[in-house]
Amino acid sequence: MTAPQTPDTAPAGSSGASYYERHIFFCLNQRKGGEDCCADHRAQEGFDRCKSQVKAAGLSGPGKVRVNKAGCLDRCAAGPVAVVYPEAVWYTYVDANDIDEIVDSHLKNGKVVERLLTPVHLGR
Ligand code: FES
Repeated sequence: MTAPQTPDTAPAGSSGASYYERHIFFCLNQRKGGEDCCADHRAQEGFDRCKSQVKAAGLSGPGKVRVNKAGCLDRCAAGPVAVVYPEAVWYTYVDANDIDEIVDSHLKNGKVVERLLTPVHLGR
C-alpha cells in the first residue's frame, strides 16, 4: 500500500493554476564554429542582471517571478532574446538599461516594453 499523494501547496493568493506569475527565459546558447548566437551578444550579462534585479525588487519566488536559463530558442537572428510567459512576449535587449526596464515594467507591473519587442519576422 502506498501513501496518498499530497498536492503541491499553492502560494498564498494563488489559485494554484500557475506556480509563478511570470517566467522569463533567457537564451544563453553558445554555438561552435563561429555561428551567431545569443552568448556572443552578452546574453549571460543580461541573465545575471535580470536575476539580480528581480531579487533586489523582491519579485522572485513562488507566486511571483522566475528567471531561467534556456538553450537556443530558435530566434537567433534577433539575439540576444528572452521570452516572458504566460504572455509569450519576446524581447531583444542590448544592455542593463533594457533589462531594468523589462523587470520594472513587465515583470513587476505587467506592462509590455514595446520598444524592445523582437520583430515578429526574425527567427533563426
Ligand atoms: S542562439 Fe539564442 S535563440 Fe538561438
